[in-house]
Amino acid sequence: MTVKLISDEKIAETSSKGNQEKWYDKETGKWYKLDRLGYESLAETVISELLNESNVEKDTPFSFVRYGMTRLRVHGRERTGCVSDNFLKEGESIVTLNRLLTLYLGCPLKEKLLRLPSDRKRIEYLANTTAEITGLDRFPEYLTLIFEIDSLFLNDDRHLNNIAVIEKDGGYSYCPIFDNGAGLLSDMRFLPPDVEPKGLIKEAVAMPFGTTFTRQMNGARSLFGNVLNIRKFGREELAAKVGKYLDFYPKRDAAIITDRIVETILIRQKMM
Ligand SMILES: Nc1ncnc2c1ncn2[C@@H]1O[C@H](COP(=O)(O)OP(=O)(O)OP(=O)(O)O)[C@@H](O)[C@H]1O
Ligand SMILES: [Mg+2]
Repeated sequence: MTVKLISDEKIAETSSKGNQEKWYDKETGKWYKLDRLGYESLAETVISELLNESNVEKDTPFSFVRYGMTRLRVHGRERTGCVSDNFLKEGESIVTLNRLLTLYLGCPLKEKLLRLPSDRKRIEYLANTTAEITGLDRFPEYLTLIFEIDSLFLNDDRHLNNIAVIEKDGGYSYCPIFDNGAGLLSDMRFLPPDVEPKGLIKEAVAMPFGTTFTRQMNGARSLFGNVLNIRKFGREELAAKVGKYLDFYPKRDAAIITDRIVETILIRQKMM
């Protein structure tokens, strides 16, 4: 396992979580990702189910990837993973913000961001420059929406390759929001199960700016307005949603996984 630890630099360009094992199956047109640090697949699946109850695809031009749970036999072993439909159509390619802006700048995006005086300026720069380059004039709202979703589900892996646009013949469109799998305290190695979820939630650090989730979200909201509208969820219904998928995990982890997910959403939804 290679994990790039970012100590003194606030802005992560690549993932501090490393890569999950994943592949595309041409036959079925589906992407598969294996769990690696914990219950990433369950986080992806539950988050996409909850987002289904939001305004995202009803009142905005944006969308998100639906993930489902699956079991896969890899190198002779049964593994848990998640599956999603390929969101790229014929002739389209994904361009991450890191790549888009680094090419545009002619120097690493991270360097440019570090030179800006505040997170507010960094958010403004990312949002407005991307809108300018791509012609996607609602990109600032899209970025705000991503930070709102991350804040609600505590996804601490929103590095600059997990935000992207879609390119086709020189034109751009909004990329469905993808890779929420680090949310809901899914990382059981770096976020150990013997620490109370409340403590882990309090210490969580948001990417890409290395600040708190609430600050990052509010920074974007104060610039571009609120975008996400989602109802509050109750303890019982959240536990029931998680319960549907617990068979994909060892029995001994069921209570811990449920507690971590339910606590995260109950606490974080108060900040929305
Ligand atoms: N459903 C999909 N449709 C199209 N492309 C996809 C899909 N899922 C994943 N990809 C491709 O795989 C890349 C990585 O996906 P994703 O970010 O979900 O994986 P990851 O292993 O969690 O990434 P990391 O841990 O490095 O952030 C995406 O940038 C995209 O190019
Ligand atoms: Mg990713």
